[in-house]
Amino acid sequence: MAKKIAVLPGDGIGPEVVAEAVKVLEHLRRDFGLKVELETAVVGGAAYDLHKQPLPQATLRLARQADAVLLGAVGGPRYDTLPRDLRPEKALLALRAELKLFANLRPAILYPQLASASSLKPEVVSGLDILIVRELTGDIYFGEPRGVRKLANGERQGFNNMIYAEHEIERVAKVAFEAARKRGKKVCSVDKANVLETSGLWREVVERVHADYRDVELSHMYVDNAAMQLVRAPKQFDVIVTGNLFGDILSDEAAMLTGSIGMLPSASLDAANKGMYEPIHGSAPDIAGKGVANPLATILSVAMMLRYTLNESALANRVEGAVAKALDRGLRTGDLYTEGMTRAGTAQMGDAVVAAI
Ligand code: IPM
Ligand code: MG
Repeated sequence: MAKKIAVLPGDGIGPEVVAEAVKVLEHLRRDFGLKVELETAVVGGAAYDLHKQPLPQATLRLARQADAVLLGAVGGPRYDTLPRDLRPEKALLALRAELKLFANLRPAILYPQLASASSLKPEVVSGLDILIVRELTGDIYFGEPRGVRKLANGERQGFNNMIYAEHEIERVAKVAFEAARKRGKKVCSVDKANVLETSGLWREVVERVHADYRDVELSHMYVDNAAMQLVRAPKQFDVIVTGNLFGDILSDEAAMLTGSIGMLPSASLDAANKGMYEPIHGSAPDIAGKGVANPLATILSVAMMLRYTLNESALANRVEGAVAKALDRGLRTGDLYTEGMTRAGTAQMGDAVVAAI
C-alpha cells in the first residue's frame, strides 16, 4: 500500500524548497517504484492568513493520518506581533507535541566539496560527521507553569520552567545510544548539571540507560563547554544527546560548521519511527520568492524520510549521492557560493539533483 506523506510547505522560502523536494519524491515514484501518495496542506503564517490559525484542524488531521510529514519552514516578520498562540512557530511546536515527536535527529555533515564554505579552517572541519539528538517535546519549551506575572511592587516578571521526567530522558537517551551503535559508538550527553537540578537528573538517567549499551562510550559535558568544543575541535563528537533548549542552540552552531545551515536536514521521530522531516533552517523572509534559496536541506530531509520512516535506505543513499554529485558539478546556491563555482537557483539545484538520481 502507498505510504501517505503530508506536505506542509509553510512560509517564506518553505514553498520553494519543498517544491524541489517534491520533485525528488515524484521522480522516485515514477522511475524507482516508490509507493507514496502526497497531500498538501497549509501551516504557519500561510494557514493564519487563510484560517486565522497557524495549525488548522484539517492540517493536524492530515499530519496525524500520514505516515510522514514533510515540512518547509514557518514564520515571518508579519506574524511576529500576533499573540503567541497564533504565531506560526506555535504550529511547529504543536505538531511536535501532538504527534509525540520526542526525538529530533540533526546530522551535521561536512560535504568535502564545501570545506571552503565553512567559517572554520578546513583541517578543523574536514570529515566532520556529528549527529545531534535533541529532545523535542519537553524542557523549558513546554514546561508549565509559564507566563508573565505581576509582582507585588507592580513590576512584571517572566517565567518558564525547565522540566524533565525520567521517562522523557530515558527514551531519548535510548535513541541516541541506538544511533551511536550504527556509527561511531560514542555518545556525549550535554547538560548543565553544575547548576541545574533538572540536568542532575538528566545525567543520572542517561548513566542508567547506558548500562544496556556498554559497547557505546558515554561522556558528559556542560553545555557552555560543548558550545566551545564545537568550534574548537568538533571532530571529537560522534553523537550528542541533549535537551530541547540546549539542542536548539547547539544544532544551529553545529550547522554553521558545515558551511551553511542551508545544507542540514532533520528528522523528528515518535516511538514508532513515524516522522516529521524538515530542513533545520527557517523561512528566510529576506530571500523568499526570489528563487535563490538552497533546497538541499529539504531534499536531504527526504533522504532521512526514506531511511527512517519509509525503510528505503537504498533510495536514501541514492538521493544523498545525487546531492553530492550536484555539488561535484560545481553548482552552488548563494549561501554556499565561492569563487570559481557556478551559481544556481533553487529550481536549477533541484533539477540537478533529480538528474543525478
Ligand atoms: C528549530 C527552530 C524552532 C525551535 C522554532 C522555530 C520554534 O528554531 O526547529 O530549531 O526553537 O525549536
Ligand atoms: Mg532552532
